[in-house]
Amino acid sequence: MVRYSEELIDDIKNSNDIVDIISQYVILKRSGRNFFGLCPFHKEKTPSFSVSPDKQIFHCFGCGVGGNVIHFISKIENLDFKESLEVLAERVGITLPTLDNEVDSKKQLLKEKIYEINKETALYYHETLYKDISKPAQEYVKKRKLDNKTLKDYTIGYAPANSNLYKFLKNKGFTNEEILVSDLVNKMGNNFVDRFKNRLIFPIQDVRNRYIAFGGRVLDNSLPKYINSPENIVYSKARNLYGLNVAKNSKLENLIIVEGYMDVVSLHQRGIENVVASCGTALTEAQGRLLRKYAEKIIISYDSDAAGQAATLRGLEILTNLGCDIRILQMEGAKDPDEYVIKYGNGRFNNLIDKAISLIEFKTKVLKKDLNLSNVNDKIKFLNEIAKLVSTIDNRMEQEVYIDKISREYDISKEAIYAEINKINYSKNQGKKILENNYKKNVIKKKETLPETLLKRENMIIGILLNGKTEVYEQIKNILSPKDLKKEQNKKIMQKLYEEFEKGNSNINNILEIFNDDEEIISILTGIMADDYEIKDDKKAIEDIINNYKKEKLINRKKEIIDSLNNGNIDKQETVNLEKELHDIIIRLAQIK
Ligand code: CTP
Ligand code: MN
Repeated sequence: MVRYSEELIDDIKNSNDIVDIISQYVILKRSGRNFFGLCPFHKEKTPSFSVSPDKQIFHCFGCGVGGNVIHFISKIENLDFKESLEVLAERVGITLPTLDNEVDSKKQLLKEKIYEINKETALYYHETLYKDISKPAQEYVKKRKLDNKTLKDYTIGYAPANSNLYKFLKNKGFTNEEILVSDLVNKMGNNFVDRFKNRLIFPIQDVRNRYIAFGGRVLDNSLPKYINSPENIVYSKARNLYGLNVAKNSKLENLIIVEGYMDVVSLHQRGIENVVASCGTALTEAQGRLLRKYAEKIIISYDSDAAGQAATLRGLEILTNLGCDIRILQMEGAKDPDEYVIKYGNGRFNNLIDKAISLIEFKTKVLKKDLNLSNVNDKIKFLNEIAKLVSTIDNRMEQEVYIDKISREYDISKEAIYAEINKINYSKNQGKKILENNYKKNVIKKKETLPETLLKRENMIIGILLNGKTEVYEQIKNILSPKDLKKEQNKKIMQKLYEEFEKGNSNINNILEIFNDDEEIISILTGIMADDYEIKDDKKAIEDIINNYKKEKLINRKKEIIDSLNNGNIDKQETVNLEKELHDIIIRLAQIK
């Protein structure tokens, strides 16, 4: 069987959103973070087929079928894994290499060359920035307050007015064809002309740190302010985010998305390292999925001007549809994050991060802007829209908090808001109740011979490991080994997960593909992923589980000792030893409780 690279498979998965794909076959309705519909793989009248946009998996609580987007296509279209990949790749315009095809391997080699050219170029421009001929650029970076570490972290450089990148690359041994494909040099008549002249250079790297493109800023107010590399065989604008290669190393759970190169580097320099830029264009779905892959929470911090706010709304749309947890940072007194952090410092920017508002609050604000609330008609309109917004919140408490806030802020009685929401909820609830009941029924229906609590515990452990945190693995591995689990498939899953962790691969995303041939295991895995087991606090959950296992081991040993002691045919010394051990166990058991 032909094996495509893991990276390519990832790329295809990332470009085909599972909700989009499944929607073409099943009518899906949103309920909380997930979507539900009638399972296309078994007959049912009420929906138990769930799709998780977060985890990009599907799972049917009725028949147990599950998997990722590739598995779905494979099942529904009756194709093998490779054929399904081809269908999905074709759909989004990704060309798959046929390993025995000469043309494709040539293209692959050319791509490698372009990465090399880009890297040489980035370093060349970066070094040039420090040369005497680069005085204007040196003054410019000083004016923009960029320090040496930042320049180095982002390989920021300078292409002088008389730069001759073409000559540099020729001397490095690259051919004319390669140089032209890189788009760093254009051919005009018989001449080779550099794309970037007298510009500050921001190289763009992908998550694997490869140099894929460049942006160049003028040093004054002339136009165009930026010129960028065009899309080519190594650069797809819609699939990359500036700064993600650096941001992904920051330990924080959220990612801040800003508009510009300067915002990223400026915040980074001031200790706010979890920043990426969409580079002034509308956020794409592929970028949204990329963000979601690296962060639980996304904070949009676009420019405070009208264009930035419009872009915020568009970005919100995309990110919400992908099921992301989003906050919107509100900034006053500066046009963009770079200006803000220079003016007011990182402490105050961090405050803005903490105070970033939710989607509902942002939409409420936008709504309010066009209305005059002292006008009765406008106020009614506002109330209707607010009710619609708030009714989309699933969590009761959260809903109450908003209603309280809105009531106070806009001087509308809580009763009026509730009345409006109740109207909306009435029709909605009818449908949702059926969904929920059915979901519960099916979860309980799953029959297992092992005790429910034990299975739940095993599932929780696997669920926690699937989160891919190495610290967690380190903590669990010494206490629990796969053979401690009771369910056969769970042992196999844990074994594989441990192997992946040992290999340093905490990208558990690919776990489903590892078990491609074992539908039962895939079903168990998607079942665990689809059910979130109410794990609110990883650390606490792990402690509980570990304690349970420790306790179980001690209790078993206690039984053994008591049996031996009762048996009587052991010598005195051993009796003393066992009694001592028993004593220890009892103390330890008491400590665990
Ligand atoms: N951009 C672009 N081409 C332009 C203008 C902007 O590609 N002609 C992109 C760049 O990626 C830029 C981003 O849009 O970083 C945001 O634009 P802007 O806010 O104007 O630039 P900043 O990066 O904030 O730069 P500066 O602070 O120097 O104005
Ligand atoms: Mn700016």
